[in-house]
Amino acid sequence: MERITMKQANEYVGKEVKIGAWVTNKRSSGKIAFLQLRDGEHYFQGIVVKNDVGPEIFEIAKSLTQETSVILEGIVQEDTRSKLGYELLVNNIEVIGESHEYPITPKEHGTEFLMDHRHLWLRSSKQHAIMKIRNEIIRATYEFFNKEGFLKIDPPILTGSAPEGTTELFHTEYFDQEAYLSQSGQLYMEAAAMAFGKVFSFGPTFRAEKSKTRRHLIEFWMIEPEMAFMSQDDSLVVQEQYVSYLVQSVLDNCSIYLDVLERDKEALKKYTDLPYKRISYDDAITLLQENGFDDIKWGDDFGSPHETFIAKQSEKPVFILNYPKAIKPFYMKEHPDRDDVVLCADLIAPEGYGEIIGGSEREVDYEKLSKQIEKFGLSTEEYSWYLDLRKYGSVPHSGFGLGLERTVAWISGIEHIRESIPFPRLLNRIYP
Ligand code: 4AD
Ligand code: MG
Repeated sequence: MERITMKQANEYVGKEVKIGAWVTNKRSSGKIAFLQLRDGEHYFQGIVVKNDVGPEIFEIAKSLTQETSVILEGIVQEDTRSKLGYELLVNNIEVIGESHEYPITPKEHGTEFLMDHRHLWLRSSKQHAIMKIRNEIIRATYEFFNKEGFLKIDPPILTGSAPEGTTELFHTEYFDQEAYLSQSGQLYMEAAAMAFGKVFSFGPTFRAEKSKTRRHLIEFWMIEPEMAFMSQDDSLVVQEQYVSYLVQSVLDNCSIYLDVLERDKEALKKYTDLPYKRISYDDAITLLQENGFDDIKWGDDFGSPHETFIAKQSEKPVFILNYPKAIKPFYMKEHPDRDDVVLCADLIAPEGYGEIIGGSEREVDYEKLSKQIEKFGLSTEEYSWYLDLRKYGSVPHSGFGLGLERTVAWISGIEHIRESIPFPRLLNRIYP
């Protein structure tokens, strides 16, 4: 007898199989027991009929508690009433691991309780759906960039550089030197772009941000493409094509999971339609001021109410272009006609999810870049390798970083970023 998962059910209708599973719930009468099961891939039903299996097996079925693991033998049959379309008519049950007083019961639990039990909470169908969508976004990312001729490059996690500012660094020891956990792989990706043309990275990044919002994690994963001979305008086209590709891939391949999450698919379909609107930082400030946001003036960074209002100007994500130089990192290229703004853009997701991409054209002028490094209190010595890139065949280049978890939260339509990563690291949480 073959051991299968319910993913293969369609090939085994009418056949006897073995399935390893966990019991999520159970209901029984004197003659028949309905087991709610999950095998890691699917949530499905097992039926145990007393007259078929005999009293001994039926007693085992009746005694099964939540999250007990079992190996079931039975016959796969069609079941038009279930989402999956198949169920298992059970004829033998072997208990593998007992489970007593499983803490997450079908009743409602508070968020802190669920977060304390994250290691178990992951087993729920909603968390399963979110992880499937996360996986699809990662899969589609590799597919998109490989198709477009990008080379996957892995920048280091232990680093001496601080591309996104020195206040949010995680310090660590590197033998007798000071080091940090990477905030962004970008500077290394620029070196890689000068070597290989078009590159992308995908890895964990760390920010000791004292922010406790529905959009902030301390440890998050970022996709960072970097492209040689690429202007900021052309980079925006790559960005919108990439985001649209992610949304379309999830619509195509995760439809059942979007249903589990009750995600509005009509809204998602609109996000695949290109181009996305572009609005300058200057115009965004004026727009906000004209609409009752008295608290904001030119030079300020946007807060989440501002971003949400600007995103409402379109039914799709919106690019905000050319922010003031003073509020952006040292490496961004100065606007050719103005010295107060830089060639950059943030992509703001609809529905209040905020910035999902930050990107820019990079400064290539050796003198300007050295001055910027000094102005930001960084050492030109430590960044001399980065400055070298401007000495030997420098070319215009641009890149961006997409935050995986914000993108997962947005496409899944979940309220809080903490559910978009298996084990979130939050301001007040490193357990479990
Ligand atoms: O805008 P950021 O800081 O850009 C960079 O790090 C650039 N070096 C990227 C590049 O050009 N290669 O971060 C990029 C994205 C944000 O738009 C957001 O989606 C995500 O990373 N992000 C966070 N996600 C979760 N929690 C946080 N604390 C985040 N900080 C940034
Ligand atoms: Mg940013």
